[in-house]
Amino acid sequence: MYNSQVLIAEMKNHVGSEITIKGWLYNNRPSGKVQFLVLRDGSGICQAVFEKTDANADLFDNVKHLGQESSIIVAGLVREEPRSPGGYELAVSDVQIVHNTSDYPITPKAHGTDFLLKNRHLHLRSQRQWALAKIRHTVIEAIRDFFNSNGFTLVDTPIFSPAVGEDEQTLFKVDYFGEDVALSQTGQLYLESAALSLGKVYCFGPTFRAEKSKTRRHLTEFWMVEPEIAYINLDELLQVAENFICAIVTAALEKNSAELELLQRDITQLQAIQKPFYRLSYSDAVDLLHSHKAKEYLQTQLETCQNEAKQLQDCIAQWTPEQETAKKQWQKDKLANQIRAAQEQLAELKTQIENIPHHLELACNFQWGKDLGGSDETIISQLHDRPVFVHRYPKTCKAFYMKPDPQDNRVVLNFDCLAPQGYGEIIGGSMREENYDALLGRIQEKGYDQDNYQWYLDLRRYGSVPHGGFGLGVERTVAWIAGIKHIRETIAFPRMMGKIYP
Ligand code: 4AD
Ligand code: MG
Repeated sequence: MYNSQVLIAEMKNHVGSEITIKGWLYNNRPSGKVQFLVLRDGSGICQAVFEKTDANADLFDNVKHLGQESSIIVAGLVREEPRSPGGYELAVSDVQIVHNTSDYPITPKAHGTDFLLKNRHLHLRSQRQWALAKIRHTVIEAIRDFFNSNGFTLVDTPIFSPAVGEDEQTLFKVDYFGEDVALSQTGQLYLESAALSLGKVYCFGPTFRAEKSKTRRHLTEFWMVEPEIAYINLDELLQVAENFICAIVTAALEKNSAELELLQRDITQLQAIQKPFYRLSYSDAVDLLHSHKAKEYLQTQLETCQNEAKQLQDCIAQWTPEQETAKKQWQKDKLANQIRAAQEQLAELKTQIENIPHHLELACNFQWGKDLGGSDETIISQLHDRPVFVHRYPKTCKAFYMKPDPQDNRVVLNFDCLAPQGYGEIIGGSMREENYDALLGRIQEKGYDQDNYQWYLDLRRYGSVPHGGFGLGVERTVAWIAGIKHIRETIAFPRMMGKIYP
């Protein structure tokens, strides 16, 4: 039986041949003298049809009783079958049972979020999670390709650091042989020194922030890529960011059409991502939050949510009795799943209905000088069909290293890139203060320990130049491209407040 192993994704090239698939049993459904095995192997999913004969009666019986996630090696003939997931199926000639599994905890039934997070190590085997893993892979590949092919040198920056990188509120403190240091919130400061050596550099690694907020956009450990460029200005930096995001979106559209379809992503929204992105000063963004347009948008959204909630409620009310008329167990399971999904969606809509008046109030009362919050970003990005650069934020709400705008000393030369459809900030970046005295002043204002910044100040003592860069969060970018609500599914083992297992 041991013909050469073929990946499920490659079955299309082997129609009419006898092949072997090594994988796991995703689903095992009996139908009289035929057993329908749904197999997965990491490359895809396919149906294998095993017919009982006099010769294979014992094996058939064993296979029939295999539980979900049993590992098996299956040999058979490939044939086209439009009803099989993927379009091809295997007419089974032999099965080797590698590991018989029973009582796999994640069944085809729907499970609650908490349960799935506790079983994340197994949940990764589900189709939705493969799709997300593959999209993440593409995003990371596109990130590296972009910088590698545009003259940037990769420089790995340290994780342990004695200095505050971004903000002192979210430091993870570590005892470093008796000294208090923190896990890296950014590689940027170190990267600035590399930029003054190599010109164009980037770092890419895990980033740690003690975020006490439990939002759908925050992890405590996430991956950030940061380019840093010597002799650049803010406009040029925005152009780099624009080209960079377009390259990522193009790669995902090219390489992940199957995954995006599985996740039911509306790809027309991604296809619309083109240069130039919108550019909005912070002050204009505040005006937009106060505008009639924003109020109208929130009002319409509230009505839409209310209507959708009503429709769902009606559906759920109708579905329940029908469930009793479903004859077979799989029909009941399917209905139970639909009802559960509808109930979850309804709960989500109800939360939104509750929150929208609060968001409206926040937007109306937004005061110039504050940092934009999650709901403000959502509103701004919802009102645009392409990414938006919000630039020149008030100095008071931003990090110490940002360079003030020579035209208006109250604001800094920075930008955030907000992804459309309400996804909010995926990039934060800025020009850096390159003047020694001004930077020292900022460090003193913040009350940081100057000793930790002597090396950083040196960059302004020796050959200082205008320079800047930005950081892009991988998980938020993947969530946006995949069109999913919460970033916790974009990384294999998410770390959030109150969540460290498995
Ligand atoms: O805007 P941030 O804080 O910028 C910096 O750290 C700069 N030092 C970058 C630079 O100029 N080199 O973070 C950059 C991005 C955010 O836009 C967001 O995508 C992501 O990192 N990010 C988070 N992602 C997930 N969970 C969190 N808690 C995040 N905090 C930031
Ligand atoms: Mg930011």
